[in-house]
Amino acid sequence: MQFPYTRKRRLRASQAIRNLSCENQLTVNDLIWPVFVLDGFNRTETIESMPGVQRMSADILLDKLIPLHEKGLNAVALFPVIEERYKTDDAAEAWNPEGLIQKTVKFIKSSLPELLVITDVALDPYTSHGQDGMINEQGEILNDVTIKALVMQARSHAKAGADVVAPSDMMDGRVGEIRAMLEQQKHHHTLILSYSAKYASSFYGPFREAVGSAANLGKSAKNSYQMNPTNALEAIDEIAMDINEGADMVMVKPGLPYLDVIAMAKSQFNVPIWAYHVSGEYTMLQGAINQGFLAERPAVMETLLCFKRAGCDVIMTYYADRVIEWLNE
Ligand code: PBG
Repeated sequence: MQFPYTRKRRLRASQAIRNLSCENQLTVNDLIWPVFVLDGFNRTETIESMPGVQRMSADILLDKLIPLHEKGLNAVALFPVIEERYKTDDAAEAWNPEGLIQKTVKFIKSSLPELLVITDVALDPYTSHGQDGMINEQGEILNDVTIKALVMQARSHAKAGADVVAPSDMMDGRVGEIRAMLEQQKHHHTLILSYSAKYASSFYGPFREAVGSAANLGKSAKNSYQMNPTNALEAIDEIAMDINEGADMVMVKPGLPYLDVIAMAKSQFNVPIWAYHVSGEYTMLQGAINQGFLAERPAVMETLLCFKRAGCDVIMTYYADRVIEWLNE
């Protein structure tokens, strides 16, 4: 139909018709809050590269989670800040049953049994070299040896009560081995969120400062296991493998620069597609907001809505706490 019989602006003319023609919406059920956990009691620390985000001890975290959970927060994702003295070449602290993450999971679940707790399965906070896997003398990342460690780590998380274990390491074959262990240990309901399409991105820098792995990693890179940003079709292969191995949900990471990958994944698979709005994306946006160049609330809401429009089911974002407050107003 030609103008004037078709005027697309009719569907935008009033708030009511705009509401009725809205295709995508952001709700509290789309959000997960990633947090940085410190050992000890009553501790908070600012993170220089992530203004507005704090590292917190578990008691402070719980004080924040209780009201957020009442307002609809369904899940929190824990990332540990491990003291230097616990870091080793073999990352053994990662599966310590009394380790920081294991203790924190138990602590949160005992107060908020219905809040899902997601744990990161990867060795980088625990290795003296900052890589996600075990390395040999040449510095190569050893896939199959690393998987054994990841299985022990995931097992200790599940035993502590984690609802979702989330391997973010990008070793080949780890999802299948973790799933086999969970079944064998009778953790039939523990979910696996696989970081299937995780790119070797420069947007993880602030996170590495937040968990304190940046210095350990030094100039080394993760591109022998994380994906090349040039590739999209390869992500489809990675996701298909992880679903076959027993992943319940799959992740694309980073988020906003990779919306094409999210859209492609959503069109090809029927499992939930989650995405990580990563630290560097947060820092870019918040940096502009703090300079007064962008208005916080509309810029953040639009950003997260765009994930939904691309087909993303759930967004892991450092803005989750703020957005849940806004959605409750
Ligand atoms: C490491 C891990 C990283 C992130 C989550 N888990 C960083 C990395 O791969 O070096 C990044 C998250 C973010 O940037 O917000 N297993």
